[in-house]
Amino acid sequence: EIGDAENGERIFRKCASCHQVGQGATHRVGPHLNGIFGRRAGTVDGYGKYSDGLLRAGNDGLIWSLEKLHAYLENPKYLVTGTRMNFAGLSDAQDRADVLAYLRQFSDN
Ligand code: HEM
Repeated sequence: EIGDAENGERIFRKCASCHQVGQGATHRVGPHLNGIFGRRAGTVDGYGKYSDGLLRAGNDGLIWSLEKLHAYLENPKYLVTGTRMNFAGLSDAQDRADVLAYLRQFSDN
């Protein structure tokens, strides 16, 4: 794994206004992010507020690999047309690698 999970925890503050992760995480503005690696986009149980765009991307086969997560976090609306994740993105590749190393601790895949 490339990326510094400890720094990633700090970067995750930019996500935490909308997402929770870890033990006891619940859906907020966005879905909780436990188990996100290897999951088909738009399929976290019980969230129920996905955009048509993200659901379509999942139906078309978008699986949250490390590579796809990098692309989504760099520019959400470029990877997923019509996503309602209103987040400018993380332009710094190391910041993305770090936050993804942090999130990976809460995924089996
Ligand atoms: C969706 C990660 C920041 C709101 C998602 C998904 C991921 C993700 C992986 C896809 C979930 C799935 O397919 O089940 C992150 C990370 C962030 C971040 C790592 C910080 C670097 C934010 C912020 C907001 C937000 C700041 C609110 C302003 C949402 C919403 C969705 C979403 C509403 C559902 C999108 C849709 O249905 O189109 N996020 N996010 N996220 N996120 Fe974020």
